[in-house]
Amino acid sequence: MANVELTRQSIVELEVDAIVNAANRRMLGGGGVDGVIHRAAGPGLLEECRLAGGCETGDAKVTGAHDLPCRWIIHTVGPMWRGGDNGEADLLQSCYRRSIAEADALGAKTLAFPAISTGAYGFPVEAAARIAVQTVAQAAQATRLETIFLVTFDKRNHSALKQALRREELLG
Ligand code: APR
Repeated sequence: MANVELTRQSIVELEVDAIVNAANRRMLGGGGVDGVIHRAAGPGLLEECRLAGGCETGDAKVTGAHDLPCRWIIHTVGPMWRGGDNGEADLLQSCYRRSIAEADALGAKTLAFPAISTGAYGFPVEAAARIAVQTVAQAAQATRLETIFLVTFDKRNHSALKQALRREELLG
């Protein structure tokens, strides 16, 4: 049973085994947290990503962490919000599930997620927080991870995740 913790800081500062990147399908970097991770990891990350062959929405692919303090980066591609009737909720849930599966396959003990799809991809923050917390809470029962961090970088996501964690009784 993994602990689930909420923290408000830049994900690249976390000394965890693996951090999740909110990437795009080309996996060649971008803005938002993707840009921050690529800048902090250095050019070697882009070189490795070039060999990855992209990533489908809802899927996850692992690279090394290069200049970051963590050991691996798990790149996942969240859904772009298009109104909610295009499978967005299932695809976002898949991002969390596939990333946790990849972390388990690596033997990682600690994993950190950003608020996937809630920036450029426009997923409504409160709905995304509910999906993140429900999916992580369910996976926490079976994973070998010891701690899963939900990392926020803005007040709105932080409040939404705090409320969702309280509802799932995962926050004291
Ligand atoms: N640490 C943690 N979280 C961060 C950081 C950071 N340093 N910087 C931004 N965030 C948060 C944002 O506040 C937002 O809540 O990451 C969340 C996800 O926002 P985006 O990075 O815009 O990701 P997303 O909405 O999934 O859109 C992905 O944007 O950056 C491009 O290449 C990326 O095309 C892809 C798309």
